[in-house]
Amino acid sequence: MKQISIIVAIAQNHAIGKDNDLLWHISKDFQWFKDKTRGHQVIMGERTLHSLPNGPLPKRNNIVITDKKGKTFEGCTTVYSIEEAIEHCSETEESFIIGGGSIYKQFLAYANKFYLTLVHKDFEADTFFEVDFSEWKIIERIDVNDDPQNDFTYSFIVYERNSLQKT
Ligand SMILES: NC(=O)c1ccc[n+]([C@@H]2O[C@H](COP(=O)([O-])OP(=O)(O)OC[C@H]3O[C@@H](n4cnc5c(N)ncnc54)[C@H](OP(=O)(O)O)[C@@H]3O)[C@@H](O)[C@H]2O)c1
Repeated sequence: MKQISIIVAIAQNHAIGKDNDLLWHISKDFQWFKDKTRGHQVIMGERTLHSLPNGPLPKRNNIVITDKKGKTFEGCTTVYSIEEAIEHCSETEESFIIGGGSIYKQFLAYANKFYLTLVHKDFEADTFFEVDFSEWKIIERIDVNDDPQNDFTYSFIVYERNSLQKT
């Protein structure tokens, strides 16, 4: 079984982004993301690559999915379909799906682990990701209620799939 994990921060109203940017600045979430993905392969859509302030993420193999055949991105492995991205995923090393909206939706059925940062507030957005967690069980949860940087609370929740679907 391929080790495919989704990592995403989602608002209460399922919002994840606007104008090709994130909706919040949560230092603890950046740290959480770094800690989980460091040394692993990360898979993203072309728009998410362009949203990264410093380009491809260091110390990680960056795979970028684009529909523009033949286009390549410096410092990344470029693929042209979800299936091609999955071919790069391993059964022994965890691969992280890091966005954005269109890529999360297409990978949801293939993922067996889900790292959710749930932001307990509604945000105005143009990109959303809604997940039915009835198929998932919580294996870890950390609630953050005292972040002086933000006027909202959030939770880090790790899920594993109850039963596996496609891979
Ligand atoms: N909250 C979070 O944790 C989080 C994390 C990452 C990103 N984001 C946010 O999400 C937003 C970006 O998401 P997005 O949905 O607009 O873009 P995206 O998923 O990052 O990238 C979309 C690109 O990937 C291509 N693509 C998608 N599926 C494909 C497929 N099956 N085969 C080939 N190419 C494919 C698209 O081509 P087409 O145009 O042909 O579809 C498009 O060029 C931003 O606001 C970003 O900040 C949030």
